[in-house]
Amino acid sequence: MKVLGIETSCDETGVAIYDTTQGLLGHTLHSQVDLHAAYGGVVPELASRDHIRLLPALVRQTLESARCSLAELDAVAYTAGPGLAGALLVGAGYAESLGLALRVPALPIHHLEGHLLSPLLSRDPPEFPFVALLVSGGHTQLMEVTGVGAYRLLGETLDDAAGEAFDKTAKLMGLGYPGGPQLAALAAAGRVGRFALPRPMMRAAGLDFSFSGLKTAVLNVVSAPGWDAADAADLAADFQEAVVDVLCAKAMRALELCGLSRLVVAGGVGANLRLRVRLDASARRKGRQVYYPEPELCTDNGAMIAFAGALRFAAGERPHAAPAVRVRPRWPLAELQRP
Ligand code: KG4
Ligand code: ZN
Repeated sequence: MKVLGIETSCDETGVAIYDTTQGLLGHTLHSQVDLHAAYGGVVPELASRDHIRLLPALVRQTLESARCSLAELDAVAYTAGPGLAGALLVGAGYAESLGLALRVPALPIHHLEGHLLSPLLSRDPPEFPFVALLVSGGHTQLMEVTGVGAYRLLGETLDDAAGEAFDKTAKLMGLGYPGGPQLAALAAAGRVGRFALPRPMMRAAGLDFSFSGLKTAVLNVVSAPGWDAADAADLAADFQEAVVDVLCAKAMRALELCGLSRLVVAGGVGANLRLRVRLDASARRKGRQVYYPEPELCTDNGAMIAFAGALRFAAGERPHAAPAVRVRPRWPLAELQRP
């Protein structure tokens, strides 16, 4: 069964085709980074317009590279939320129309389910059950995952998401957009231990997070008299270490509480090398395994949506209602059901 996946929830237009027997047949991605860079962040209206501009061409290109015709598609999967309403509507409108024209089902997919299942696309996929650490620009959550659609929320951020903390801190340090990767690159040139930054909620009971105080702590350092921009790399390293310390401690505690040994890391911040090194080291000490998506599938992409759609479609899921263009900009992952 061949499923076309469409991702337009934020600032990346992603299209892919997943075949339930042959695997990923092709995927294309267009990043809007250059478009939004001048504004220092994503401008929702510009994002929607750019998705409209590029989506049809990307679909054509993906079909060509996968050597697949429209007539061969068995279903169309698209991100229906969470995300920017206008951006989501572009993908939803396109996918529902295409499904109607081809007389195949159009399946609305939860963006975070796409991220969460994306490590299953890698060469060494994890088996269920596992704990998922979802760390993106909009979410920081720990989930107990017992199967597709069986997600129990263990803890989440009470304020900023980890990626958001990276982005906001990068901005206040004068780095460009997108901030996360730039701050991480700067941190790689720095030395940990010069700035005493807090580890918010690290020792608190439970598995919730809080990152907004960390950003404020960095703001206090850079706005104090005597701040020397030559120390920026060291400050970036200490910021990154603080985020990683907290993510690592809570992820290990989640495994312990659930009595599980497999941790799956997904979402844009999962691309952070320091996070990977620290999680791998903690896991190794305790005889646990950590799984990541392939590097190119860490950030938003169409492959994870095609894949989640294919798993659900193959398990018998069909649209509940007549075709309609509906999106859910806010959508708790734990509300999902098994297919
Ligand atoms: O999953 P994603 O592509 O989009 C959302 O669904 O949010 O995640 C994007 C987030 C951004 O906040 C970005 O700054 C962050 O992931 N990010 C990183 C790194 N690469 C991307 N944060 C830290 N280190 C990185 N290497
Ligand atoms: Zn994402």
